[in-house]
Amino acid sequence: MMPLKEEQEKVLITAAKKAFDNAYAPYSQFHVGAAAFTANGQLVSGCNVENASYGLTVCAERNCIAQAVVNGEQRFSVILIYTEQEKLTPPCGACRQVIVEFFQDDAVVIAANHLGKSKTWQVNELLPNAFTPKDLI
Ligand code: THU
Repeated sequence: MMPLKEEQEKVLITAAKKAFDNAYAPYSQFHVGAAAFTANGQLVSGCNVENASYGLTVCAERNCIAQAVVNGEQRFSVILIYTEQEKLTPPCGACRQVIVEFFQDDAVVIAANHLGKSKTWQVNELLPNAFTPKDLI
């Protein structure tokens, strides 16, 4: 796991907070913002987008990853999840599976909040023994 420079974490937090402010979460009121660096150093972000048909909700992390894919980027070094909850927000199970699809085992996932608290994981800690594209070969 490559240590993330403090400056890079600040850039991610700023981008994730901006996405957080645009979250569409009228049902849960639980805003989430995510920001990631692609392997080429491109900054991408996403927010959660809910739906009146609740199950169609898409999390911030998956929208963030999809934005990168739209831009032609499919590899990442880090993703940060920003909420304004005292308890940090880890990625949900569905997002862990999508992270595994595009991130290497030792890439970094960070949860951060408005109080300056953060926690860092390595991808393979969040979803050990994952089903991956390699299992399809
Ligand atoms: N949510 C995310 O955006 N990311 C997560 O990892 C956890 C959950 C969203 C989905 C829903 O809009 C709201 O948070 C409450 O579950």
